[in-house]
Amino acid sequence: APMVPPNLATCHPATDDETKLPVACCPPYSSATIVDFKPPSSSEPLRVRKAAHKYNSDDIAKFEAAIAAMKALPKDDPWSFGQQATIHCTFCNGAFDQVNSKNLLQIHGSWFFLPWHRYYLYFWEKILGKLIGDETFAIPFWNWDSPKGMYLPKMYQPSSSPLSDDTRNKDHYSSVIDYKYSMNDPNPSTPAQIDEVVTRNLAELDSIFKETLQLPALFMGKAQRGGEAAANAQGRNEGLHNVFHQWVGPLQKPYHNMGNFATAGKDPVFYGHHGNVDRMWDIYSKLRGQKVEFRDPDWLESSFIFYDENRQVVNVKVKDCLTPESLRYSYAPEPLAWTTIRR
Ligand code: C2O
Repeated sequence: APMVPPNLATCHPATDDETKLPVACCPPYSSATIVDFKPPSSSEPLRVRKAAHKYNSDDIAKFEAAIAAMKALPKDDPWSFGQQATIHCTFCNGAFDQVNSKNLLQIHGSWFFLPWHRYYLYFWEKILGKLIGDETFAIPFWNWDSPKGMYLPKMYQPSSSPLSDDTRNKDHYSSVIDYKYSMNDPNPSTPAQIDEVVTRNLAELDSIFKETLQLPALFMGKAQRGGEAAANAQGRNEGLHNVFHQWVGPLQKPYHNMGNFATAGKDPVFYGHHGNVDRMWDIYSKLRGQKVEFRDPDWLESSFIFYDENRQVVNVKVKDCLTPESLRYSYAPEPLAWTTIRR
């Protein structure tokens, strides 16, 4: 069966993966009329998401203004930065049981990972645009698949910026990311080491795409059906994505903000990171000639709920988000460095 949205009235404390302590992650509404999502019409302007490291000062100012406006909303407003961050905890740390099942609702570790996060960013972007009155507002993506983008984009760093997060591991602020990073690894420092890491990263991307192109479950994550327990069967895209959480997050326990599912959405760079995760799906889909990844109604008809830019709880279906264009956004083209890598 397809996954269905939870019964809103049954929200309960979730569990922090790290501390194992209960954490409050219920949405600020427990009874809301849920309406079916209508995908935007093709006459709506296309929002073009650009690479974060290419943002100019106007782009940065606009993005900062939108985030500042979101952060200034009352804490219990479903549009507020904190509530938007909490959505991640709600569906990642088990604030709901599934309908007619004792199993928690979990959208990581399966074929739901990419569609759910696509919608999460989509509404976040729409709400931000609404807050600054700009219908074409688009969020940045952290272009970590290109050599110049393999650094935490500068605009997220100044501590005076609404894009910063004080809990990050600042030792990584000017270091290249190693896709094979594990906690406490030293930063690559010599030009030769940096070069080696960049080449290895690109080679890793190349294998991910080559090895999964005919096998969507390996890229996207395996099947999980309505009512079932979490599949714990992430795809290669999700597997790679985890490294960035750990690399950005704090070095010391507790691993909050980017380093922990329950709090990851509290760091603005989360959405830049997931922009690129989503872009990887778009690239994958286009490489496959947009052949639907799973022709399985248990995927296509599965649905999630979000609070939309009209202050309405909407029920969205996987089948309506299969391409960014169907949600009226796209990614500004960037060279795909891994496709030309020589090893
Ligand atoms: Cu919902 Cu980066 O994880």
